[in-house]
Amino acid sequence: MEIYTALKNDHDKHRDLLAKIDETSGDSERRRELWGEFYCSVKSHAAAEEETFYAALMKDADGQPKARHSVAEHKELDDLIDELNDMDMSSSGWLNRFKTLRHDYEHHIDEEEEDIFPVAEDVFSHEKAEQLGQRFEKREKAELSLVAEKSESKLVD
Ligand SMILES: [Fe+2]
Ligand SMILES: [Fe+2]
Repeated sequence: MEIYTALKNDHDKHRDLLAKIDETSGDSERRRELWGEFYCSVKSHAAAEEETFYAALMKDADGQPKARHSVAEHKELDDLIDELNDMDMSSSGWLNRFKTLRHDYEHHIDEEEEDIFPVAEDVFSHEKAEQLGQRFEKREKAELSLVAEKSESKLVD
């Protein structure tokens, strides 16, 4: 699978989770479950995306500015995700802050698909895009177990 399809599949999953979380209320089991799924998936996606797709794009003169811009956005989004993760889900502020995250994250993935993929398609051969896709899927699995491990040790603390 080419890297673009692998990334887009995750983005679609994230869009769906964000829409579902937006409809939850208070500190409910459904909100916890959906948020936990989004949290682990988005963290492992972003890490693997940086380690494969953006690391490769960064090496190209045309790709570098786009890659830098996106990686900087990852940092901002990651801070917001951690802030939400530490916030009391029953507080009225949680959903407000979540709506900011939803807006910013959807903007980020729209931009990846609409502005960055076309640049990357010029930079990478089909073969390279396939190879990056495979590496991405492998990295994402490894990152997912790291994220899960971390959030479990946090529960024990
Ligand atoms: Fe991203
Ligand atoms: Fe992405």
